[in-house]
Amino acid sequence: MNEMTVTREEREAKLEGMGCKRKRVEDIRFTQGKGNYVDDVKLAGMLHGDFVRSPHPHARIKSIDKDKALKVPGVLAVLTAEDLKGVNLAWMPTLAGDVQMVLADGKVLFQNQEVAFVVATDRYAADDGINAVEVEYEALPVLIDPFHSMDPDAPVLREDIKDKKDGAHGPRKHPNHIFEWTVGDKDLTDAAFRKAEVTIKELISYHRTHPSPLETCQCVCSFDKVKGELTIWGTFQAPHVIRTVVALIAKIPEHKIHIISPDIGGGFGNKVGAYPGYICSAVASIVTGKPVKWVEDRIENLTSTSFARDYHMTTEIAATKEGKVTGLRVHVLADHGAFDACADPSKWPAGFFNIVTGSYDFPTAHLAVDGVYTNKAPGGVAYRCSFRVTEAAYCIERGMNILAQKLGMDPVELRLKNFIRPEQFPYHSALGWEYDSGDYHTAMQKMMETVDYAGLRREQAEKRDAFRRGETREIMGLGVSFFTEIVGAGPSKNCDILGIAMFDSCEIRLHPTGAGIARMGTKSQGQGHETTWAQIIATELGIPADDIMVEEGNTDTAPYGLGTYGSRSTPVAGAAIAMAARKVKAKAQMIAAYMLEVHEDDLEWDIDGFRVKGLPEKFKSMKDLCWAAYNAPPPGMEPGLEAVSYYDPPNMTYPFGAYLCVMDIDVDTGVYKVRRFYALDDCGTRINPMIIEGQVHGGLTEAFAIAMGQEIRYDNDGNVVTGSFMDFFMPTAVETPHWETDFTVTPSPHHPIGAKGVGESPNVGGVPAFSNAVNDAFSFLGSTHIQMPHDFWRNWQAAKNLGVIA
Ligand code: CDP
Repeated sequence: MNEMTVTREEREAKLEGMGCKRKRVEDIRFTQGKGNYVDDVKLAGMLHGDFVRSPHPHARIKSIDKDKALKVPGVLAVLTAEDLKGVNLAWMPTLAGDVQMVLADGKVLFQNQEVAFVVATDRYAADDGINAVEVEYEALPVLIDPFHSMDPDAPVLREDIKDKKDGAHGPRKHPNHIFEWTVGDKDLTDAAFRKAEVTIKELISYHRTHPSPLETCQCVCSFDKVKGELTIWGTFQAPHVIRTVVALIAKIPEHKIHIISPDIGGGFGNKVGAYPGYICSAVASIVTGKPVKWVEDRIENLTSTSFARDYHMTTEIAATKEGKVTGLRVHVLADHGAFDACADPSKWPAGFFNIVTGSYDFPTAHLAVDGVYTNKAPGGVAYRCSFRVTEAAYCIERGMNILAQKLGMDPVELRLKNFIRPEQFPYHSALGWEYDSGDYHTAMQKMMETVDYAGLRREQAEKRDAFRRGETREIMGLGVSFFTEIVGAGPSKNCDILGIAMFDSCEIRLHPTGAGIARMGTKSQGQGHETTWAQIIATELGIPADDIMVEEGNTDTAPYGLGTYGSRSTPVAGAAIAMAARKVKAKAQMIAAYMLEVHEDDLEWDIDGFRVKGLPEKFKSMKDLCWAAYNAPPPGMEPGLEAVSYYDPPNMTYPFGAYLCVMDIDVDTGVYKVRRFYALDDCGTRINPMIIEGQVHGGLTEAFAIAMGQEIRYDNDGNVVTGSFMDFFMPTAVETPHWETDFTVTPSPHHPIGAKGVGESPNVGGVPAFSNAVNDAFSFLGSTHIQMPHDFWRNWQAAKNLGVIA
């Protein structure tokens, strides 16, 4: 190419770098059915494993008889906890410092817990084998309500640790207690409440739900007895962590473990943890010498792997009569189910819940979280959010609305009065975080102007009058939410998983003709990394994004990284990509200086190459420099053009957003209609606006699902009553509202390209917007707080409780 014959705009456009609405390159294979998922892996002689699961939520196992199952044609083996004890794998460590049964050891603690693993020549034979395994149970009393977990006469669930006075996170107060975690200044906060002119107190519950990706958790394990090597294809959001954990617990040297995450059909936190299916498949492969596949079905996915939320948050806010907040006090009762398998960085038993002061300048705050066991499935994963940030945002955003209602103030006005001001950044919150950047007032004002907030409030007032006059049975709610997220786990000084520091990585290798390959420690599950990571490199290195191949998910080839969840990819790996590119660029600059016979300092970067300052015709494109790097490097310089960067971020990033939901509810039926939903997101520098929009659409749809119906519900006997898509709300295009998106840009000052995460934000901000809309609709009838999820039936019940229907 002769660079001088094309305009700067054309050169820029050709790169399709940052800021470009580049089409998702991965969609070519996805839309043509050419994706390669775990279930597409078919190996010679492959066997299939499946679980015998407990119908009881709490029971002692008196006996397991495998004899009949082993006679079923095609069944080769039935593993139980006794078999796993022989290889010291009957229990496994959880990410939260607890241990979890791989297969039921003496008792079961939740319905559908894994009891035995049947291995057969195909899935149907495995299923027949499951039906032939005879398990004798003795039912035990069931504990479902977390508020009764620590009763003196509560049944003791975890007999393995019943006498342990200390857990992974400090002292335990009861055999069913896991930890107490406190943050903030209690005395100062109590004093603020004593002095307060106005206070509110409300139990705000965020119900148990589930990430439910369309592709369930699955793996294929293949042990090569001759080489002593284990290869696992799995739906892993963090493949390197899985490799290290397998090496540590299975005692296989790490270089002999190959973890491959192929295409993944959604993760949302569900595919971060280690599950019994992975361990049993690996053991079965080692025992049989054949590859073993395990694929969860939908009911297994919803009922046994990784629930989310289940936080019961007693929320108190102290304020002046004018609406200036003076203190925040929150106590959380956290229902962790049968094992503490929360996927949080090790030091954070309640994740980053201490972001609960939100976007507001609270002078003081205090938080206490008690984790307890119940007879429910383990988990506690970050379902499309950074760790427990969704719960925190819901807590404070409902709390602020309840305070506004008590003060008789508009919820937007209350927020504007209490926002952290732009000049306060970097802002140190009362609960210990340093917010990197933000401009909340501008975002809120843009939202108000775009939607005509004042006009909507006027319309609402008119509708309320009409309702009072009996002219309509429809009520209108405006759900305001303003959230601040904390994403990008994280700085190794305070973030690790099982001792593994949470940096991330990128390796870039440019080829002689000016194309290249880049590999990262992250793993896309639909976020479009193959598209956006190439865009960062395109802008940094002046190589068209189309000429960069992005590869993730193979631990043999990708540099070590901590994976993709909690919107950490852009803040951490995105930074590693820019830093690796800058190392490549530094070498390219030396080559350009040699070729142009000037000092490096006399060169300047110009879109896609270096030119001599003041002499525009003296120019070397990156394409020229790639060729020279291999074929004519300066004397004494090693050939080649590649670099690796491991990036340990100095801080998290703090994206934020202003959302508004306009909802109409028919009080006689509880049927709601989302009339309008506006979402303004600020994720700093925007890499690909179209992908951001897609991420926001997806996150809002999940927020809509959670707020308006999606729930993992147990009856009092411990049965899961929402264990399939018949009962677990999964919105389709029919139910999903129309989304309006908008943005402001406040770059992160410490991120090399100023970017913050975005994938999780709409779920964090969306849920309180929906819930505030429902609560706002009912508020004029005397209601303060209605618990989620707000399905038709609950809305109808709320109307009934408020006396507006007979
Ligand atoms: O960690 P995860 O990939 O789930 O979340 P993320 O870092 O928020 O990124 C989600 C997608 O949005 C990726 O493809 C990012 O490159 C893209 N993104 C963007 O284009 N600009 C941003 N400022 C943040 C994310």
